[in-house]
Amino acid sequence: MRTQVGIVGAGPAGLMLSHLLHLEGIESVVLESRSRDAVEATLRAGVLEQGTVDLLNATGVGTRMQREGAVHHGIELRFGGRGHRIDLSALTGGKAITLYAQHEVLKDLIAARLAAQGTILFEAQDASLHDLDGSAPSIRFQIAGTGQTVHCDFIAGCDGFHGVSRLSIPESRRTEYSRVYPFGWFGILTRAPPSSPELIYTHHERGFALVSTRSPDIQRLYFQCDPRDTVDGWSDARIWEEFRARLATHDGWLPREGPITQKNIVAMRSFVCEPLRHGRLFLAGDAAHIVPPTGAKGLNLAVADVRVLSRALIAFYREGRQDLLDRYSETALARVWRAEHFSWWMTSMLHQFPGKDPFQERLQLAELRYVTTSRPKATTLAENYVGLPLE
Ligand code: FAD
Ligand code: PHB
Repeated sequence: MRTQVGIVGAGPAGLMLSHLLHLEGIESVVLESRSRDAVEATLRAGVLEQGTVDLLNATGVGTRMQREGAVHHGIELRFGGRGHRIDLSALTGGKAITLYAQHEVLKDLIAARLAAQGTILFEAQDASLHDLDGSAPSIRFQIAGTGQTVHCDFIAGCDGFHGVSRLSIPESRRTEYSRVYPFGWFGILTRAPPSSPELIYTHHERGFALVSTRSPDIQRLYFQCDPRDTVDGWSDARIWEEFRARLATHDGWLPREGPITQKNIVAMRSFVCEPLRHGRLFLAGDAAHIVPPTGAKGLNLAVADVRVLSRALIAFYREGRQDLLDRYSETALARVWRAEHFSWWMTSMLHQFPGKDPFQERLQLAELRYVTTSRPKATTLAENYVGLPLE
């Protein structure tokens, strides 16, 4: 098989890249190790930045998001038993976020690629990358036990944190920066109407909690847990008790409870691999960097990376230009490190760290009071949360 760009991974990064290239007449083949059903059912992020929303709309894959997504103009920071609204739109010249689940974005992108006769090879196992240093790289893989090869001009490594692409760069040619947090997030889906019209990020002495939403009758909630916890260790009754305690306000606010239909635990990590390029291989999304979910940046960063990468590839094919490809790593990493800082800052401000250091707790509360009373500080939060411009 031969194509122009071989893409490993059908997550937000890989599918969006394939879509953006197709709109400019550039061919790609996407290899995905899981089945289409598994990809379309995996629960992950939910917050889309303004720039992500604008890009989905501008490229013709935003119709269902416009119908089913919910636009939010603010978020609440809750601490000391009180809520404080951050007016995202007023602070950013009218920008907002949209709540629309990652797997719904993936369903829309897969449908668009297949409708345009795009090639997505699901259940492609044992992918390995070859000849990255030359001008004719290739990807070998197996489908149903049969070995196959995609020959291409470039490979986009969009296969997430546990993929093969990053590891195909020799260790001596990459540097990894990371921080693992001493807590995880316990996430639930519950069949209940919204507890609040906007997301609530809560600082509490028992630990962080977050109220988010998926639809008018499905809510997504998270609380900080021990990273070694298992979902079986938490009964529904104990989960609701924890949410009630952490989310309590002085005026008696309580979350709306319903049947819990899904439970999972997410590890918390910050990670960046530099550079994002090795020869003809370009890394994008979680394959290259991870943020803790507190800033809601993971999916949005993946989309921002492939926007930069698609422009560089388009300039190469249209005008024979190499310069944007040469600058891809530097350009994308500038945004990545800004998001790394924002996600680390939100995480540090809102979570309890082991050892319950009272000094650190006072610093967190001082920061929260500042963010919720100083317009410049609130603007810093708001412009990072809705997403800095993609340009
Ligand atoms: P992925 O979405 O990871 O896509 C990579 C794809 O590559 C996958 O489909 C995978 O099956 C495939 N793949 C992997 N290895 C291979 C291989 N060898 N060959 C072929 N295919 C391969 N972000 C938030 O903002 N909020 C959240 O609540 C949140 N929750 C998360 C929960 C979990 C469990 C995880 C893992 C991430 C979460 N994130 C969250 C982060 C966000 O979902 C990611 O940043 C986003 O999915 C990144 O997109 P991606 O396309 O780079 O990678
Ligand atoms: C979600 O709705 O899944 C969500 C919202 C905000 C975050 C992380 C996850 O910061």
